[in-house]
Amino acid sequence: MTHYDNIQQNLKSNQSTWLITGVAGFIGSNLLEALLKLNQQVVGLDNFATGYQHNLDQVRELVGEDAWKNFKFIQGDITKLADCHAACQGVNYVLHHAALGSVPRSIEDPILANDNNVTGFLNMLTAARDAKVKRFIYAASSSTYGDHPGLPKIESVIGKPLSPYAVTKYVNELYADVFARCYGIDSIGLRYFNVFGPRQDPDGAYAAVIPQWVAALIKDRALQINGDGETTRDFCFIDNVVQANILAAVTENPDAVNQIYNVALNETTSLNQLYQMMSALLVDSFPHLEKHQPKYEEFRNGDVRHSQADITKARTLLNFAPTHRVDQGLKEAMEWYKKNLSSTAN
Ligand SMILES: NC(=O)c1ccc[n+]([C@@H]2O[C@H](COP(=O)([O-])OP(=O)(O)OC[C@H]3O[C@@H](n4cnc5c(N)ncnc54)[C@H](O)[C@@H]3O)[C@@H](O)[C@H]2O)c1
Repeated sequence: MTHYDNIQQNLKSNQSTWLITGVAGFIGSNLLEALLKLNQQVVGLDNFATGYQHNLDQVRELVGEDAWKNFKFIQGDITKLADCHAACQGVNYVLHHAALGSVPRSIEDPILANDNNVTGFLNMLTAARDAKVKRFIYAASSSTYGDHPGLPKIESVIGKPLSPYAVTKYVNELYADVFARCYGIDSIGLRYFNVFGPRQDPDGAYAAVIPQWVAALIKDRALQINGDGETTRDFCFIDNVVQANILAAVTENPDAVNQIYNVALNETTSLNQLYQMMSALLVDSFPHLEKHQPKYEEFRNGDVRHSQADITKARTLLNFAPTHRVDQGLKEAMEWYKKNLSSTAN
């Protein structure tokens, strides 16, 4: 049994109450599914800015009605302190994931990014402090590494942010640190690197690369690669992210708390490789892909060329042990998209 297996076993027989903000989104709904399957009580907060009722409906179907009774949904907005206070009542662990994602969106509208990702974050931290929650886990981001050229990325060495989004995510870390000093709140920030998996939104101008490409591949639409395709990312399957959240929430290692961790694999995949892997997984079901070719476009403003995480810190202090490498994760994700995208109209 791994450390994570033990933790899950323990949770099943010890119920706690968790608040997931951004619960109707991609990562939030996967956290919800995992926690309900572990017999936990969950409160979810979302304003449906980029999340969907259909994500919640799918979790309900997957966990069954008995587990679903342990979930309470609050439609609310983290930019309103009263909504945050209401959501934090009686909560043991907060997994704060509500935010407006996407680098390009933040370049288009930095004020909106700041409202949601900085003011909203500060409201949530304040509400968590007032409710005396045990621990506040939050979604930080690899964008905080900004223009620092070092690879793989080590938590303590960051550069200058390259987008308003990156600023907001760095400010989250600064606030969490200051709240630990000033009010004694325990927090852990998880710097995610390109997470992917079921329920990640393929639609809209700000979709992440994997879901955007799956939709294009399945529907035989034009697919753009920004730059020459040799840009690399440390893609991380959602199950590894769920694991990091649960380990961070329940760790009893005092050295592990009030820290920031990279959450990824320390493996890189170029966009060209990603394209090949994805088409190979889909071609049997969609023979039109034998002829499909990507289109190469300009490099995108605010994007870093390479991204790769050193995950020694999470491995050492949290016992983080990723269960899914990129190819395994892609296989599971493609199966989900095949089922959930094929039937929808172009
Ligand atoms: N997906 C990734 O690769 C990645 C990488 C780094 C960091 N993150 C961070 O992880 C978190 C979750 O990302 P995701 O990919 O699941 O995105 P997502 O857009 O699917 O989920 C975000 C959720 O937050 C909700 N939300 C947004 N603003 C809100 C507000 N003001 N009040 C209440 N709810 C609000 C949205 O409706 C949505 O359901 C975000 O904080 C994001 O910045 C994600």
